[in-house]
Amino acid sequence: MDRQTMTRELRVTFQPSGRAVYVLPGTILLEAAARAGFIIETPCGGAGKCGKCLVRVTSGACEPCAEQAAALKAEQLRQGYRLACKCRVQQNLTVEIPEKSLFQASHKILAEDAGGERDLRPAVTKRFLQLAPPDREDPASDAERLSLALDGAGLDIAVLRRLSPVLRQKDFAVTATLIDRTVVALEPGDTTERCFGVAFDIGTTTVVGTLVDLRTGMDVAVASLVNPQTSYGDDVISRIKRCRDEADGLRQLHDAILKAVNAITREVAHKAGVDRHDICEAVFAGNTTMEEILCGIDPLALGQIPFVPAFRNTVSMRAADFGLDVCPGAKVSVFPQIGGFVGGDTVAGVVATRLDQTHEPTLLVDVGTNGEIVLAHKGRLMATSVAAGPAFEGARIVHGMRASKGAIEKVVADGDIELNVIGNARPTGICGTGLIDAAAALLRKGVIDITGRVLGPDELPSDLPQALRSRVVENASGQYDFILVHEKDSGIGGPICLYQKDVRELQLANGAIRAGIAILLRHAGVDPSELGSVLLAGAFGNFIRRNNARRIGMLPQIHTDRIRFVGNTASFGAKRMLLSTREKEYAERIVRETRHIDLSLDPEFQMEFSSAMIFPETE
Ligand code: FES
Repeated sequence: MDRQTMTRELRVTFQPSGRAVYVLPGTILLEAAARAGFIIETPCGGAGKCGKCLVRVTSGACEPCAEQAAALKAEQLRQGYRLACKCRVQQNLTVEIPEKSLFQASHKILAEDAGGERDLRPAVTKRFLQLAPPDREDPASDAERLSLALDGAGLDIAVLRRLSPVLRQKDFAVTATLIDRTVVALEPGDTTERCFGVAFDIGTTTVVGTLVDLRTGMDVAVASLVNPQTSYGDDVISRIKRCRDEADGLRQLHDAILKAVNAITREVAHKAGVDRHDICEAVFAGNTTMEEILCGIDPLALGQIPFVPAFRNTVSMRAADFGLDVCPGAKVSVFPQIGGFVGGDTVAGVVATRLDQTHEPTLLVDVGTNGEIVLAHKGRLMATSVAAGPAFEGARIVHGMRASKGAIEKVVADGDIELNVIGNARPTGICGTGLIDAAAALLRKGVIDITGRVLGPDELPSDLPQALRSRVVENASGQYDFILVHEKDSGIGGPICLYQKDVRELQLANGAIRAGIAILLRHAGVDPSELGSVLLAGAFGNFIRRNNARRIGMLPQIHTDRIRFVGNTASFGAKRMLLSTREKEYAERIVRETRHIDLSLDPEFQMEFSSAMIFPETE
């Protein structure tokens, strides 16, 4: 491939998974890992001080910088250990990520800390019983016999129907599965070793399911699918409209998500060699619209002022009633919601990060089509949501695309443009992170001004390198666009540009997030400089270049060390609820105690939004 404008990308392979990504020379290892889907612990925000981001370079050289030499022992350095936050990729590498360096691993530990292996308290328990068979002296009914052995527990009708044959299959040796003092399943013999749960993050775009061993709290398999509802509309509003306008809309959307959830359940069970009937519990976290449709609830009220959700508390039901193809009596729980467009995924994020327990003002931001923002200050929580629109997903951007093969995911402007393309392929479009990078880079170079206008040749800075200058081209309406990829390097048979109208779309999305953050801070009386940290959650948030998001004003002007990636907190929170009933109580307390700021009713929002559309003057 002719890459006149593109620097040679380097391959980084992560072990033990073998997952590989291509990155630009100079990319921080932490970012390469995130690109590959590995979120590494960064408690010090990448300052090189905590040593928690330890990885081991097993092939290819990565010279340690002075900070690493100071932070690590000589023996560690000799063995190839490096700090992912300080290591820059300069050649092809193979890197081992120790389990304890992964953010997800620390959350497993946290889950154990909160409950501990001794304290794991899933809603479901299994008990093995060797019952005495009936005789003339003891002619009690089968149901009484079982119930008595379980301190008076009740029996689900499905258990009662098959009780007599199951009891006699292995001479009255049985395993009872109990939820809330009711036997929901009964199996012959001892099956206490097999007790699993599945935690779901139901995203508007992607659905992720994690199979968890409820005895140990450990993940055993994970699988994901594109949310099939995307074929009915990209964002939640179009799906609410479909439910409202089509007679069969709700059923279509509900069936589509249920099918996906069952497909993921089958896949994780298959991967882990687990019988689906040994899955005894499931927890779902999603935004308000996704949760309501998942439960078969008409989301009508979410589409009209004052945008109230249909429910706030956890919704629980039997798997058979829910339509989940696991143990029919399994317990299904759907996360409680805060209000309007602040749903269960946000609550799960607070549960996962223990946001209410932070000592300094802390923001949790999930950037997506719907941006959710929670501010923790002095033990109190305030939450809001903003309609950022689908620009970050690549929609409404002329050459926009999702973050998949061929997408420009990183843009650097120096003497010329350098790009990183997902899958090391010819570029076919630009995804959300590339869009933010491009805008930030062109702002720094003075190609775009703070109003978002792409400047014409006469207005460009005199010291702008010629290679960049020549990329500015006039369009049919007399405005200017910027060529990111020349036709000869592109995979679409024409140039790939950042168009003037793309910058406007970005300003709308960016302005919404920025205004939401500003209003929450103002309500709490917190100056941005007082923020202890900003936690970036969600699939998109974990790929954002922090300095670029800050340059365009999406994130407050605080040091990048204080902006931390926290991974898929909706999944982590769902797992926590799966592992302990205490987490359900905690989640419901979060919902009760969080102040919901509805920006659709806030007179300040329009004004704040207009000024937030203007990019910051400087960094
Ligand atoms: S040393 Fe703390 S994140 Fe790398």
